Amino acid sequence: MTGKVAVVTGAASGIGRASAEVLAAAGARVVVADLDEEGAAAVAAGIGKEGGEAVAHQVDVADPGAVDALADAAVSGFGQLDVLVNNAGIMLRRPLTEVSPEEFDRVLSVNLKSILYGGQAAARVMRPGSSIVNTLSTIIDFATPGTGSYAASKKAGEALTRTFAVELGPRGIRVNGVAPGWTDTGITRQRHVADSGEFQQGRFDELAHKMATASPLGTVAEAIDSAHAVLYLASEASRCVTGHVIRVNGGASMS
Ligand SMILES: NC(=O)c1ccc[n+]([C@@H]2O[C@H](COP(=O)([O-])OP(=O)(O)OC[C@H]3O[C@@H](n4cnc5c(N)ncnc54)[C@H](O)[C@@H]3O)[C@@H](O)[C@H]2O)c1
Repeated sequence: MTGKVAVVTGAASGIGRASAEVLAAAGARVVVADLDEEGAAAVAAGIGKEGGEAVAHQVDVADPGAVDALADAAVSGFGQLDVLVNNAGIMLRRPLTEVSPEEFDRVLSVNLKSILYGGQAAARVMRPGSSIVNTLSTIIDFATPGTGSYAASKKAGEALTRTFAVELGPRGIRVNGVAPGWTDTGITRQRHVADSGEFQQGRFDELAHKMATASPLGTVAEAIDSAHAVLYLASEASRCVTGHVIRVNGGASMS
């Protein structure tokens, strides 16, 4: 990735953080973008300490103007934009019968519209040979109670990924998705924080074990596993791959 410039959203934590670190370790200059400004700054500083090059940038990916400014910041700071990882996301656990219009809108704005805004902003500045990677989810293959809004955002994200791939392919820009399975990150931990604020480690470990035994490989993914898929899709190694979704879930679902 030497000579390449990558923007990763949601890079203050979890899969985005691992992706930013892996891309930087492979030689890319990275814009660590997140709503969490302090978290992004800490990740960028950590990359710097390891000998990589990164800057932090605060962004709300649900705001098209802010996403445009993010793409411009990569170009003005580093001269170009070669890789965009649309990774920021939020989870809502609520039965569809109880979801409010505002909650539904927020999930779609952060998880889905961000893919539209990111793709539009990147397409404006990217040159042939560039790559967009969208973080989807294994939920695109399942229906489970309480996850309908999230699943709708990710399944529609897959549709945007494929359509961007056919629209931008003639310009030499590839667009792919990574669909992580259950992974130990902020999103999955947040569900196990009691009202008292205490993290319920026992219940968390039980769920991790259940998710692991549901996959043929008998394991759950780690953030670094999805980051490696991001690296592949960002790099020349995948130069002939577009419109594809890599499932990083131990084989829990296949398509
Ligand atoms: N952890 C899992 O099991 C899992 C499984 C499948 C897919 N995913 C997807 O992976 C992606 C990364 O999530 P994670 O698991 O690393 O969770 P995480 O909570 O650790 O990281 C998400 C990051 O996104 C940032 N973010 C949230 N809203 C934002 C906004 N509006 N603008 C900018 N940044 C924002 C958060 O501040 C956070 O740093 C998400 O798209 C998520 O849906 C996660």
